Amino acid sequence: MREQLRVGVAGTGFIGRVHAHAVRSAGARLVAVAASTPESARRAAGELGADRAETDAAALAVAPDVDVVHICTPNDLHEPLAVAALEAGKHVVCEKPLALDAEGAARIQAAATAAGRVLAVPYVYRFHPTVRHARALVAAGDLGPLRLLHGSYQQDWLASPDDDSWRVDPEVGGRSRAFADIGSHWCDLVEFTSGHRIARVQALLSTVVPERASGGGPAFSTAAAGDRRPVATEDVALVQFETVEGAVGSVVVSQVSPGRKNRLWFEIDGADGGVVFDQEQPERLEIGRRTGTTVLFRDPATMAPDAARLATVPAGHAQGYQDCFDLFVADAYAAIAGSTPDGLPTVGDGVRSARIVDAVLASARTRTWQGVTP
Ligand SMILES: NC(=O)c1ccc[n+]([C@@H]2O[C@H](COP(=O)([O-])OP(=O)(O)OC[C@H]3O[C@@H](n4cnc5c(N)ncnc54)[C@H](O)[C@@H]3O)[C@@H](O)[C@H]2O)c1
Repeated sequence: MREQLRVGVAGTGFIGRVHAHAVRSAGARLVAVAASTPESARRAAGELGADRAETDAAALAVAPDVDVVHICTPNDLHEPLAVAALEAGKHVVCEKPLALDAEGAARIQAAATAAGRVLAVPYVYRFHPTVRHARALVAAGDLGPLRLLHGSYQQDWLASPDDDSWRVDPEVGGRSRAFADIGSHWCDLVEFTSGHRIARVQALLSTVVPERASGGGPAFSTAAAGDRRPVATEDVALVQFETVEGAVGSVVVSQVSPGRKNRLWFEIDGADGGVVFDQEQPERLEIGRRTGTTVLFRDPATMAPDAARLATVPAGHAQGYQDCFDLFVADAYAAIAGSTPDGLPTVGDGVRSARIVDAVLASARTRTWQGVTP
């Protein structure tokens, strides 16, 4: 029998809590949590049932009784915490974006390689069974050669000038906001599903809310309106691209689209068929043909084996976002135990994403096409 992994979670906001649930679901023990203050860590430890609260995240990263460190803090802390944890011999689950730029992501990758430890990055939309089915259709050649990859990722939680978050501040969130925060998920998911790699991009970024109330509240909440401050990161990104394999594509990314909560949508068009996936309706996958379109409902009995593996409840009993996280963490821990689960996003995927973000920023700045470092 495998020994129970001992886990520490740094950052107990929106996603730290999702991680804590997934840790338990995977049969591990939540040994410690760290938050922005010792007092909020104590509160979170009580709420999440952790054995103890750490004084701070740096202490948690190297705590002797922790085997795996989950980094769920604001983005600027990812690199120092991940490197410290890896150098202390821990396995790491580090939130995206892996670092503030591609150089930082590469430093984390070097630390993971030197330590010989697993580092997994929660590109969790890969864990929708319908996504795996679409990927299997592409891989089997069922859609024919792919021609066009397109879609959008829209949210509305930063639509008002009264909305603020640490994500808006480039020192904390990074120079790209909307694209690095959610466009990175779209690119990861579409590259994963299609098997294509984005070769070059042309990007237009726009800050449509030029000033925001300072306040920096938790994710997906409206901050108390304080003094206004200028905004330096983008609310909207429009990106068109070409893939190494010869398809073209585009994505619209926005955190200011009223009515859209977490709508990651993609379409993959091949010569013989297409697939359409909507993260807010993840139980269904549209499969388009010239002769008619069918809707496949998640059903382990009729899906590709890799999709059926991730279907944890029978058809008609809806799976969602938390299930993706539970499945992702279970696969990350399986990798720590020595297996190689198909489709686990690891440090190389985090580096890849950071390179796409850097190319998007360079393209927007120079108004030229920019290659993505392979
Ligand atoms: N993979 C996904 O689907 C997904 C979804 C949401 C967020 N994220 C990522 O997770 C990270 C956190 O985002 P969030 O939405 O949970 O933000 P959040 O604002 O809800 O939570 C961040 C937490 O970090 C804590 N924190 C701040 N400074 C800290 C410090 N020095 N030490 C320890 N904790 C500290 C804050 O108190 C807060 O509880 C970000 O990197 C974000 O990009 C990923």
